Amino acid sequence: MSPDEKKKNACLLAMEYVKPGMRLGLGTGSTANIFIELLGRQVNQGLDVVCVPTSVASHDLAAGLGIALTTLEQCPQLDLTVDGADEFDDDLILIKGGGGALLREKIVAKASQTMVVITDDSKHVDVLGKFPLPIEVIPFGEASTVIAIEKVAASMGMKGRIELRKSDGNTPFNTDSGNHIYDCHFEALKQPRQLATALNAIPGVVEHGLFIDIANVILIGNSEGAHTLER
Ligand code: A5P
Repeated sequence: MSPDEKKKNACLLAMEYVKPGMRLGLGTGSTANIFIELLGRQVNQGLDVVCVPTSVASHDLAAGLGIALTTLEQCPQLDLTVDGADEFDDDLILIKGGGGALLREKIVAKASQTMVVITDDSKHVDVLGKFPLPIEVIPFGEASTVIAIEKVAASMGMKGRIELRKSDGNTPFNTDSGNHIYDCHFEALKQPRQLATALNAIPGVVEHGLFIDIANVILIGNSEGAHTLER
């Protein structure tokens, strides 16, 4: 079974969490796109929901499918966010941001009563960090910010490449909020909670891709269907 079919199995189960009248957060990425497509079909059959997208890409996809959209300014509290992840562990800690939308994804997830994560079994790890941790930084003073990130990592016994994400050739990737992303190849995040706290204390860091105590349930697509990991 292809990875996309496994992702679809998780998305089909996620649809069961969606109820008429809900205010939904829409994630970003290939798995979220499958969910948005399924949601669009339900909306066209009369499902009444209103959604806040976490990226321009998800906005455009959802709008094209006829899904009613709003913003957190109009609708600051949401019932449910459905979003993907790049890695997750048994404590439901996630690494997100492979698609560059981690800041809006975290704001939207935190504004939601429930976060349901749609994944496939390839993303389940014992120790987070094989997937490089994305850190979104303000371009002003980013060289200093990177040194501060290196120091935090070293103080926790981690080292590894900290790489500016590029969109093509030599152009830095710009997030939807006009920031840059550094992908941190630390390999093993043995103390994710301490790392998150230390990164949050660096002034140039806007946000990092560790989602801790945010996900309520992870739906893991596999070749038979999907199973659930819950807090
Ligand atoms: C986007 O910024 C990410 O957080 C995605 O949710 C995550 O990268 C999962 O993406 P895929 O569903 O494409 O694997």
